[in-house]
Amino acid sequence: MTPPARIAAAIELLSNIKSGFDPADVIISEYFRRRRYAGSGDRRKIREIVYVVLRNLGILKYWLIESGGDQDDPRLWLIISILLEEPENLGSYFIGGRFGPAAISAIEKELIEHLESRINSQKAPDARWALLNCPKWILEYFDRAFRDSCDIELMALNAKAPVDLRVNSLKTTREKLQSYLRGEGHDFSLTSLSPIGLRSMNWSPLLDTKAFKDGLFEVQDESSQILASVVGAQPGERIVDLCAGAGGKTLALAMMMKNEGEIIAADAFDYRLRRSRSRIERAGVSIISEFSVESSILAETIDPVDRVLIDAPCSGSGVWRRNPEVRWQLTPEKLCKYKETQKQLFHDGSRLVRSGGWLVYATCSLFLEENEEQVDSFLKTHKNFRLVSANEVLGNNENLSSCINNCGYLRMSPAQNKTDGVFAAIFEKF
Ligand SMILES: C[S@@+](CC[C@H](N)C(=O)[O-])C[C@H]1O[C@@H](n2cnc3c(N)ncnc32)[C@H](O)[C@@H]1O
Repeated sequence: MTPPARIAAAIELLSNIKSGFDPADVIISEYFRRRRYAGSGDRRKIREIVYVVLRNLGILKYWLIESGGDQDDPRLWLIISILLEEPENLGSYFIGGRFGPAAISAIEKELIEHLESRINSQKAPDARWALLNCPKWILEYFDRAFRDSCDIELMALNAKAPVDLRVNSLKTTREKLQSYLRGEGHDFSLTSLSPIGLRSMNWSPLLDTKAFKDGLFEVQDESSQILASVVGAQPGERIVDLCAGAGGKTLALAMMMKNEGEIIAADAFDYRLRRSRSRIERAGVSIISEFSVESSILAETIDPVDRVLIDAPCSGSGVWRRNPEVRWQLTPEKLCKYKETQKQLFHDGSRLVRSGGWLVYATCSLFLEENEEQVDSFLKTHKNFRLVSANEVLGNNENLSSCINNCGYLRMSPAQNKTDGVFAAIFEKF
C-alpha cells in the first residue's frame, strides 16, 4: 500500500472506532481480516498511525476547538496529527486519487494555516485535560481517586501497554513456554507479580503460533491474572462467574481449580459468551457450563455456590492504555447506568453465595464511585456479609503487598504496578 493509501485506511478505521460498537483492537483486527491485500508492514504502520492519533486525541481536539474545526472529525484528527508530527509530508499524503484520501479542501487549508501560526506561537496546549488526554469532565473522578498522583496516573494510562500472557498451567509451565516462544523469535520475560505470567514490550503475531493454537497461553493483562487469583477458587468447588463475557477470568479460574469442580459462566449477552467457546476448547477445560441469562434470573434459578465473581461492567477507566478510545466514548449518563447495573449485580451475586462462601466484586475502573463507594453501599444494605482482606489470599506473596490497600482491597494501576487498573473486594457470607 502507498503511504496515502495507509492514511486513507487509518481515517476509515478511526471513523469506525469513533462509532464505538467494539473496542479499537477488535475493529482493527476485523478490518484487516477482510483486507488480505494489506501486508504485515502495512498493518503495523496503519495500526501505529491509528494509535498515535488515539493517544494524542486530547491535544488534537484542543487544537481543533481552538481553530473552530470539528473536534469529532477523524479526517481532521489525522490532518492535525500529521501537521504536528511531520508537517512536510502533509501535502504528499492528501493527494486525492483512487486509494488516497481526498485532497486538502480550501476550508481545511484555511484551518491548517490558522493552526500553524497558533502552534508556532504557543507550542503546547495550555489545558490540563488536553495534555493528559482526558475529557474535561472525567478529570474530577481521577482527582478524587488519586489526589496528588492524579497526573502521573493519567500519564501512565496514556502509555503503550505491554503484551502479557497467562500461561495455561493445565498444559505447560511458564519457563517451558518462555523458552519455546524464544525459540520462535518471541522474547518474553517472567512477570514480577503474577506467578503465571509472561511479558513482552513488543507486539508480535502470537496468535499464529502453534503454542497459542494448542492452548498453552491466553493474552491477559497481569492485573487480571491477579484478580482471578483473589477469588481463591479451589479444585472441586462450585463457582459462578456472573459476568463471564468472553471468558478471560473464567478460564483463569478453571486453571486455578485444576479443571476440577464446576464453573457456571453467565452473561446477559449470548454473543459475548460465544466468543469464549473456542478458547475453552483450546485450553482443554471441561468444567465450564455457560448460561446466557441476566444475573437476576440466575439468582432465582440455581442453588447457592461456594464463590461468586462479579466482574462488573464499568467505565473501563483502568484499561485506557489498551483501549485509549473509551475515554472519549464515556458520558455522565453511561457512567450513571454502569453504577446502577453494578448495584444490581452486587445484590444478585450476593443471593447466589452459600453461607460461609465468598463474593468477589471486581471492576477495571479506577473511580471511587464504581469501587469503594459501591462496596460501602453494599455493606450498608447487606448485613450478612463481612469484608475479607485480599491479604488472606495473596498474603504469602510479598511482591503483591503494593497491590493491596489499607482496607484490604486489591487496587492496581498503571503508575503504581505497571499493569492495567483493577479493583476487587472480597466478602464472606455468614
Ligand atoms: C467487564 S465485562 C466481563 C469481562 C469478562 N469477565 C472477562 O474476563 O473477559 C462485563 C460483562 O457483564 C455483562 N453483563 C452486564 N450486565 C449483566 C447482567 N445484568 N447479568 C449478567 N451479565 C451482565 C456484560 O455483557 C459483559 O460481558
